[in-house]
Amino acid sequence: MTLDVVPLSYGVGAEIRNIDLSMPLDKDTAAEVKKAWNDYHVLLFRDQDITPEQHLAFTKALGPTEPYPLFHYRHPDVPEIFLLSNMKTGEKRSETADAGRAWHADLSYTTNPAVGSILRCIKTPDVGGNTMFANQHMAFDRLSPTYQKMIEGLEAVHQLFAKTKNLDKLNQKEVADLKAAYPPVIQPMVRVHPESGKKALYVSWANTTQIVGMTPEESKGILEYLFEHQTTVEFTYRHAWRPNDILMWDNRSVLHMAVSDNDHVQDRLMHRTTIIGDSSGRLLHPKQDAA
Ligand code: OGA
Ligand code: MN
Repeated sequence: MTLDVVPLSYGVGAEIRNIDLSMPLDKDTAAEVKKAWNDYHVLLFRDQDITPEQHLAFTKALGPTEPYPLFHYRHPDVPEIFLLSNMKTGEKRSETADAGRAWHADLSYTTNPAVGSILRCIKTPDVGGNTMFANQHMAFDRLSPTYQKMIEGLEAVHQLFAKTKNLDKLNQKEVADLKAAYPPVIQPMVRVHPESGKKALYVSWANTTQIVGMTPEESKGILEYLFEHQTTVEFTYRHAWRPNDILMWDNRSVLHMAVSDNDHVQDRLMHRTTIIGDSSGRLLHPKQDAA
């Protein structure tokens, strides 16, 4: 089968028009999907009215997965699915209602970060609830050779909840459980994509707190510049969801964020699976790694 691949923007992303994800993916088609994914980093599949089990089967055809690490928010029947929702259970909004509101790469605060994330829209508000993506190969390539050399080989600390607003409003038991499960890690600031060999920036406003071996002041100057540069509008794609859209992105190549441009009284419900595989980084040892 030859995939019909249509770019979504100048910077990143393509739509695949002729594939039905309710059907098992044969090896050749899976290889074609992977090729398009390596070329475009974000793939869109529209009108995929599939079950959670089919969503999981599609994910497994592309790589290994596991029950979602943030264990409080798993789908009850398919634990590999992470439930991202602003809907209420009784009087209480889901703890994931504000998840992903700042630029990030999934699970970069673990040593087994997400390779790919496959997000399916179940319910979306009438207007907005968009998701944005930014191409981090482009972000790296557009730095001067001097700046590139300066940051290659540097490492930075990544932390869950580093910038989460209103953390005190979340369930404190869940916050404490997750903090204990995910202590700070150190990641390279530039990652080499294992399949394309291309370099990408691997820092993010949401999770990167400090460059290893620098004073907080030195680190701040570099990180603030990179946070701004890496989300230059030209590197981005902004997706307006329809129910049954599926987007899959490569967390080694792009950052993403929930824009939160919606009326939160209206329901938004997304199902996400995660492809794992490439480990990256190491645990922070406060004494050894202190600035
Ligand atoms: C995610 C995520 C953003 C959104 O699923 O990892 O960050 O717009 N989603 O829901
Ligand atoms: Mn995310």
